[in-house]
Amino acid sequence: MRAVIQDRYGTAEAIGVDDLPEPVPADDEILIEVKAVSLNGSDRENLAGSPFYSRLGGLRRPRNPVPGSDVAGIVVSAGRSVTEYAKGDEVYGELAGYRGGLAEYVATSPRLLARKPTGMSFMDAAAIPQAGCIAYRATRGIGPGDRVLVNGAGGAGGSLVIGLAKHYGATVTGVDRAAKADHMRHIGADDTIDFETEDWADHRDRYDRIVDLMGHRSPYRVHRALRPGGQYLMVGGRTRILLALAAAGWSAGRGKTVKVLVVPQSRADLEAVTALVTEGVVTLALDRTYSLEHAPAAFARLAAEDHQGKIVVRVP
Ligand SMILES: NC(=O)c1ccc[n+]([C@@H]2O[C@H](COP(=O)([O-])OP(=O)(O)OC[C@H]3O[C@@H](n4cnc5c(N)ncnc54)[C@H](OP(=O)(O)O)[C@@H]3O)[C@@H](O)[C@H]2O)c1
Repeated sequence: MRAVIQDRYGTAEAIGVDDLPEPVPADDEILIEVKAVSLNGSDRENLAGSPFYSRLGGLRRPRNPVPGSDVAGIVVSAGRSVTEYAKGDEVYGELAGYRGGLAEYVATSPRLLARKPTGMSFMDAAAIPQAGCIAYRATRGIGPGDRVLVNGAGGAGGSLVIGLAKHYGATVTGVDRAAKADHMRHIGADDTIDFETEDWADHRDRYDRIVDLMGHRSPYRVHRALRPGGQYLMVGGRTRILLALAAAGWSAGRGKTVKVLVVPQSRADLEAVTALVTEGVVTLALDRTYSLEHAPAAFARLAAEDHQGKIVVRVP
C-alpha cells in the first residue's frame, strides 16, 4: 500500500511517500481503507519532535513511521473479537496512538471510532476528531454574555472553539496572526488580536474564559487577564509550563482557575461535537486539500504560517 513515511524528526523534508506492507488487524482491531485524513497542530509537533512531549512516540525517531491521527474511511475487515463494526461500515475518529493514518490502510482498535453520519463527506468527518474534541471540552460551561479569548484561534482547534463559544452566547476575541483576522471574523470572532503586535495578557480583568492553544506565558501573567471567577485553560504550548501546571496546578485567587485542559480521546465527545456540526451549530473551517502523494506539501503548509482551519489529505 502507499503510505506517508517519516523516518526522522525535522521539517517537511523528513516526509516521503513510499510502499509499505498492508497492516494485518489483530483479533481486537479493524482494518480501515482510509479515505481522508486531516492534520492538526499535533501532527506538526510530531514531525518536528518538538515540544518534547511529541517524542513520547519515539525519542530519536518515531516508532510508527506513518504520521496522521484523524481518519475517516471504510471498514475492510474486523478481527474475531470485534462485534460493533463489520465490513463496509463507514467510520471516523482519532487513532489511539496518534499515528498511522496517512496510508491506504490502517489497522486500529475500534474503541475510539464512531460511525460516520450518513450524508457527511469523508473529508468533513476526518476534519472533526481532535480539533472538535478540544473545542467541545474547552467550551464546556461557557454561557451567554461570557467573554472568551482564544489564543491560536485561526488554527485547527481554535477555529472550532470560536464557533462553539459563539453558539453558547459568548463574546469572542480571537488571537492569531494579522493575516488570519478575516478568517477568525468569518467564523464568528467579534474581535481579533494580532499576537505579533499586541499582547492580550496585558489586558486586566477582561475574560471569563481563556482557551490557550499556544501557551507560553507564566500562570502569573495569564491570570491577570481573567475576570474574577474566570478560567484559563492551557491546551497546548511550551512543555515546561504544561508540566508545571499539570503537576501543581496554580491557585490564582478571586475564584480564578489556571490549569491544563487534558482532552480525553472519547467516542462520546466525538459523537456529541459531530452532532453540533450536522445540526449546523458550528461550521467546519477547511483549509486546502491534498492527495496522499502530495502529503509532503500538506505538511509544508501546516508548518508555514498561513493555513487557516483544517488541512485535509485525500486517500488514495
Ligand atoms: N490538551 C490536550 O489534551 C491536547 C490534545 C490534542 C492536542 N493538543 C495540542 O493543542 C495544540 C493546538 O493544536 P491546533 O491543532 O489547534 O494547532 P494549529 O492548527 O497549528 O493552530 C495553532 C494556531 O496558533 C497560531 N500561532 C502560532 N504562534 C502563536 C502565538 N505565539 N500566539 C497565538 N497564536 C499563535 C498558529 O499560526 P501559524 O500556524 O501561522 O504559526 C495557528 O494558527 C497543539 O499544541 C496540540 O499538541 C492538546
